[in-house]
Amino acid sequence: MSYSISIVGLGYVGIVHAVGFANLGFKVVGYDIDEVKVERFKKGDPVIYEEGLNEYLERALADGKLELTDEIDYAVSGTDVTFVTVGTPSLPDGGVDLSQIISASKAIGRSLKLKDRWHLVVIKSTIPPGVTEGLIARILEEESGMKAFTDFGLAYNPEFLREGRALKDFFKPDRIVIGVRDERSRDVLLDIYKPIEAPKVITTPIVAELSKYASNVFLAVRISLANEIGGVCKALGVDCYEVLNIVGLDHRIGPHYLRAGLGFGGSCLPKDLKAFIKIAEKLGVKARIAKAALDVNEEQPRKVIKLLEKHLGDLKDRRIGVLGLAFKPGTDDVRESRGLEVVRLLLERGAEVYVNDPKAMEKVKGVLEDQVKLIPSPQDLVDSVEAIIIATEWPEYENLDYRGKIVIDGRRIEKARREARVYEGLCW
Ligand code: UGA
Repeated sequence: MSYSISIVGLGYVGIVHAVGFANLGFKVVGYDIDEVKVERFKKGDPVIYEEGLNEYLERALADGKLELTDEIDYAVSGTDVTFVTVGTPSLPDGGVDLSQIISASKAIGRSLKLKDRWHLVVIKSTIPPGVTEGLIARILEEESGMKAFTDFGLAYNPEFLREGRALKDFFKPDRIVIGVRDERSRDVLLDIYKPIEAPKVITTPIVAELSKYASNVFLAVRISLANEIGGVCKALGVDCYEVLNIVGLDHRIGPHYLRAGLGFGGSCLPKDLKAFIKIAEKLGVKARIAKAALDVNEEQPRKVIKLLEKHLGDLKDRRIGVLGLAFKPGTDDVRESRGLEVVRLLLERGAEVYVNDPKAMEKVKGVLEDQVKLIPSPQDLVDSVEAIIIATEWPEYENLDYRGKIVIDGRRIEKARREARVYEGLCW
């Protein structure tokens, strides 16, 4: 059977799933509360930069497989399955802000009341263990007057998309995790994911919820451990990439997430690590390793500044260039970006800061414009400053002329390493 699918919340995860399912042939209705965004999607504007999203969005619209709306009743009542992909950002104390999940659940519950057919609600947003079967089930039941897992289906199905590769990850994931209580929800989700070849793990919602945090915590810990080993390597005058290459050849360890440097940013690893620490604390469990991973990560940008000061002394009024503001290449996302943190530290020291990013300049315009100089050409930036910090490993930065320059490299750009007059790698 072919199901029709609604997606509630067209942030980055939501729009990727909307076009992904539409391109698998499902009829999809994408809903967002933000009318302006909905209008942009309708016109084929993907709103965010994500490889392939443009083409997939255009195709889904042209084939009539994707409809967009700012009316939630229309989205839910006209479809069989609703995926919830609203944001669950960090609270100031590191806990999880569930306000969007709560309001989406209320609205979906009210829409369910209007339906005379069984409906499946699938939560995709990252949420603490227990929230699907606890808070969300309760709200849906209260608003709809129906019973979860019998009158309507409810499941937790985490996403493991990497920004910049999100569509590839959608069509070719390492695994699909289906957290369910009732057979009908399980069968519908298995049907929906049938076209995607991947191991499918059937489990309970709470296991599925925790597996998402555990995965991101694990990745964050690997990066921070690589950075800690990198610190020791740097102190010994050793190249940590040589050491970690040897480590990664052990099949029990593997080569991934061992790239030492400025550390991890983005909307997920830092947020989920902090949330995991909070979740553990509430349970009376000590999250020592997760906390240490966060500490190491916060220290990496400060180390860059120290290396710069070693060569330039006081940074007040010095012209410093930062190459890279996106939290990683292939995206325009600057959330928790290590590059922005470096900029902040430089401004704190009174430096004159020049910045470049191939994709993220628009994103920082409103925020940074008055404080830094935005330089559209990376070579112009390199040519106009006293020293350069590399904060994102954009391929473009492998083609610049670094001769005669002072470079502090947080991401290992080989050409800079070969050419710069003074070159300091963060962990090498
Ligand atoms: C991460 C996870 O990789 C996804 O599996 C997950 O679905 C997603 O979070 C999420 O929870 O939604 P993403 O935030 O797109 O994906 O970013 P990653 O590609 O994992 O990179 C995160 C950060 O770690 C970047 O700043 C990157 O530069 C840094 N990193 C990554 C390193 O410093 N070293 C490495 O070896 C790898």
